[in-house]
Amino acid sequence: MASSANQRGKRGKKRVRVAVVFGGQSSEHDVSLRSARTIIGALDPERYEVVPVGITREGRWLTGGDPHRQLTATSPLFALPNGSAADEPVSSDVVVSRPGSLPTGVAGGEVDVIFPVLHGPMGEDGTIQGMLELSGIPYVGSGVLGSAVAMDKAMAKSVLGQAGLPQGDWRLVARRDWERDPERMTEAIAATIGFPCFVKPANMGSSVGVSKAHDPSELPAAMLTAGHHDRRILVEQAINARELEVSVLGNDDPIASVAGEIVPAGEFYDYNAKYIDDDSKLLIPAPIDGATMGQVQELAIAAFRELDLAGLARVDFFLERETGRLLINEVNTIPGFTAISMYPLLWEATGVPLPELVDRLIALALERHAERKPT
Ligand SMILES: Nc1ncnc2c1ncn2[C@@H]1O[C@H](COP(=O)(O)OP(=O)(O)O)[C@@H](O)[C@H]1O
Ligand SMILES: [Mg+2]
Repeated sequence: MASSANQRGKRGKKRVRVAVVFGGQSSEHDVSLRSARTIIGALDPERYEVVPVGITREGRWLTGGDPHRQLTATSPLFALPNGSAADEPVSSDVVVSRPGSLPTGVAGGEVDVIFPVLHGPMGEDGTIQGMLELSGIPYVGSGVLGSAVAMDKAMAKSVLGQAGLPQGDWRLVARRDWERDPERMTEAIAATIGFPCFVKPANMGSSVGVSKAHDPSELPAAMLTAGHHDRRILVEQAINARELEVSVLGNDDPIASVAGEIVPAGEFYDYNAKYIDDDSKLLIPAPIDGATMGQVQELAIAAFRELDLAGLARVDFFLERETGRLLINEVNTIPGFTAISMYPLLWEATGVPLPELVDRLIALALERHAERKPT
C-alpha cells in the first residue's frame, strides 16, 4: 500500500494509481518485460503512481518490492546458468499470490486503473480482461470480445472477411485433423492454398511457431511447430509483399497514425528478425504514395471497428508487390511497446510523443469504464 505522501505529486495533486501488469504466461513474456519498462518510464511521476505487478511464467502474481527485477532475473533470456523460473527464490519483499487471483493491493479502489502489458495468450486474449471486468476496475485496451477475437487469427480473419476487408487466402486446420491424415490434408492444402504457404498457430504472436513451407515436404515440420503452440493452425497463401503497420488510438472515434514499413532482415519477419538481428529496418513513415497511405489508414480504422476494439491496436498489412493491393495480415490489441517498437514510434512520428500516448490510453480506459457503468 502506498503511504499518503506517496499518493500526491509535488504540486499536491492526487495522483492516479496505475497498476502496470507485465510478464505473463505466454511465449512473449520477455517482450512484455521490455514493453512494461517503456510504459512505466513514460508515466509522469507527478501525475501517476505506478504499482508494478509481475506475472511469472507459471501464473503467479508478484506485487510489492520490484517485481520487474524479480522477473528479469528469472527470464531465460537473462537467466543465470542452471537458473529457472520455477526454482528461483522470490525475494522477501515481493508478495506472491495464487494463480488467477488478484493480488492484494490491486483490487478496485486501491488502484484507479490497470494497464495490462501482456502480449499473447493469457493476457492479450480476453482472459485478464474478463477478470478485470468482474473486478470492476478500469483497464487500458480492448474488452473481452475484441481481445479474444483479435488474438485468434482465424476468428479475426472470419470477422474481417465477413466485413469485406481484403485479406489473402487462408484456411484453418485442426491439429487433430492433420495428425489423423497428414497426406489428405497436404493434398487439400495444395489444392486450395498452394505453395509456398505460411503455417502458424491461430493464437500466438512475435512470430512464435510461424514458418514458411516452400513445398509439401516442409509441411509436416511446419505443422508440428505450429501445433506445439495451438490446437488450431492457420495455413495462408504466402504473399510476396512489403509489410506495413498502422497504429490506431481511440474508442468509438479511433484515429490512425502514419503507416510504417518493416524491412525484415531474413526471408520473413521471424522472432530473430524482430528482437535479435539488428539488420531489420523500420521505415517511418513508410515510403508509399499519399493514396496508399490514406487507404491503409482507412483500412486500419475499419478493422479496429469491425473487431470492436478499444484504446489501442496495431494493424499489420501486406502491400502486394505485383498488384499494389493492400491485404490485412493481423491485428494486435496489445502491440509491442518497447522503445524500438512500431506502435509508439508511429505515434511519435504522427505528433503524439510517448508520455502523451500513455496519458491518452489511460484517459480512454477511464472514459470507457465510465460509459459502461450501469446508470
Ligand atoms: N501470408 C503471409 N505471406 C507472407 N509473409 C507472411 C505471411 N504470414 C506471415 N508472414 C511473415 O511472417 C511474419 C509473422 O507472421 P504474423 O502472422 O504476423 O505472426 P505474429 O502474430 O507472430 O507476428 C510476418 O510479419 C511476415 O513477415
Ligand atoms: Mg505479426
